[in-house]
Amino acid sequence: MSDRRPVILCVDDEPLNLKLLNAILIHKGYEVKVVTDGLQALKVIDDHKIDLVLLDVMMPGMDGFMVCAEIKEDERYKNIPVIMITALNDAGSRIKGIEAGAEDFISKPFDAAEVLARIKMLLKMKELNNDLLFAYNCIGDLTSYGEQAMQDFDPVKFSYMSNIDRIVGRLIRQHARELDKPNMVIIHTADELDNWHWLKYDLIDGKVVKSSIAIDLECDNCPHLKSKEQIFSCANKKDMSEAGIDSFVYLLEQMGIKVSNIIWYYGGKFCVFALNYGRPIKKYDTSVLKNLVMQGLFLRSLSMQLTETENAFEYAIYALARASEANDEDTGNHIIRVGEYSALMAKILGMDEVFINAMRIQAPLHDVGKIHVHPDILKKKGKLTDEEFNHMKQHAYYGTMIIGDHSRLEIAKNIAITHHERWDGTGYPAGLKGLEIPIEGRIISIADQYDALRSARPYKPAFDHKTTYHIITEGDGRTLPCHFDPAVLEAFIEAASRFEEVYERLKG
Ligand code: C2E
Ligand code: SIN
Ligand code: SIN
Ligand code: FE
Repeated sequence: MSDRRPVILCVDDEPLNLKLLNAILIHKGYEVKVVTDGLQALKVIDDHKIDLVLLDVMMPGMDGFMVCAEIKEDERYKNIPVIMITALNDAGSRIKGIEAGAEDFISKPFDAAEVLARIKMLLKMKELNNDLLFAYNCIGDLTSYGEQAMQDFDPVKFSYMSNIDRIVGRLIRQHARELDKPNMVIIHTADELDNWHWLKYDLIDGKVVKSSIAIDLECDNCPHLKSKEQIFSCANKKDMSEAGIDSFVYLLEQMGIKVSNIIWYYGGKFCVFALNYGRPIKKYDTSVLKNLVMQGLFLRSLSMQLTETENAFEYAIYALARASEANDEDTGNHIIRVGEYSALMAKILGMDEVFINAMRIQAPLHDVGKIHVHPDILKKKGKLTDEEFNHMKQHAYYGTMIIGDHSRLEIAKNIAITHHERWDGTGYPAGLKGLEIPIEGRIISIADQYDALRSARPYKPAFDHKTTYHIITEGDGRTLPCHFDPAVLEAFIEAASRFEEVYERLKG
């Protein structure tokens, strides 16, 4: 409940009536404004916060019906209850009053007890109505916050602290809209590295400003506080008069932070204290606080679970890719490097981030079909016979069979089937040409060959970067520049020094 006294506007052209009403109302502790005509009444409503209007019907100029209709047509004022003062048993006036939107009627000459009872009832009704509106707005705000949070939610890039900043920013702004006084939120939380911090957020000139503060819960200043646990055990409960929170407020005031009221919510590694609402705290405030915190914790947990699943997915891809290398002579980090080169070129080609990451993660599966190629062929020191090479070429098909048809592995599948296709149509297995080869195939072709050339194979020595660069850009008879998409070749040339870095860093 507000501690502000309700303000009642009395409108009557008879000064005697006004005097009488004024006496009755002042005595009951209401604040009273009196005016003698309709125009003045509307002006007072514009200038002051009026909680209820007592309105005479018969007045010179604007009559009571017209004044009432004006009030009820105004979005800003239509919720102010209006009681019309009518002559005894004037049924016609009552009907007109109802049509004008009046909430209630009092007959002249009036009985003080009746006037007070009706006023009390209507003010109570108005308060309940305000609560309802407030709750309705809270629900609306929470829904829109939830929508926004889900829209912005990126499980893999989710940051706990920036999510907290967003929640708190939202809390403060939301209340700044509704209050005159800037409020403040203090939180005690663990960051990603599990270090605990006290943070203070203020609204200064419309901006949410965050700062670190040192709150020493173990200090001797505080007469009641025994331990940090005491605050958190009390922050867990609903009862605000607990000694722990009293002591916490005492500590804050010692630090020069004035506290007019405070609510809190404690959840896992997060305790949030919302201060100084600038109006009495309602039970909805605690629900809003709790909901916002829960949303944040929910997103965090979702993000952790999705990140874990994502990591497991990547892990499984590498495990499968490694299995395919079992019969190759030591190829080291070949599969990882090929993913890195592919991502480098995809980025230069302007592909989006999802594609770039998919390339990095899925390119390692390009040779998975070699599992089905006989080890004697893979390990042969010399040149392959035609028959052997024809068998070798099948690894592109085997790869797609192993990868199968999953939407998350579409790029891997395309890569397996097209990584030996050539831009000029001389590649295998399908002899695709130009843009018939999907971009992932055109990219990996250079990535794979760069790495195969840099590495020692049973059938060839390792070449240095310069020689490799030369073979790819100018050809050596077996490899020719016309094998490559010119745009991808250009990306390779642009990224060549970074290819060398990747090779050196991951050659192990
Ligand atoms: P890989 O060893 O991973 O080589 C991948 C691709 O890199 C080759 O595809 C080829 O385009 C390129 N490449 C590798 N080494 C050289 C080289 O010394 N010079 C040039 N210009 N390019 C090179 P390709 O030719 O379709 O071969 C596919 C796979 O077949 C190779 O994978 C390797 O496992 C096997 N293979 C190819 N040639 C021979 C060979 O002479 N002896 C043996 N034992 N295996 C071979
Ligand atoms: C605050 O802004 O002070 C707290 C907001 C809330 O709990 O809704
Ligand atoms: C494509 O996705 O096919 C265009 C990218 C390119 O060819 O460089
Ligand atoms: Fe291959």
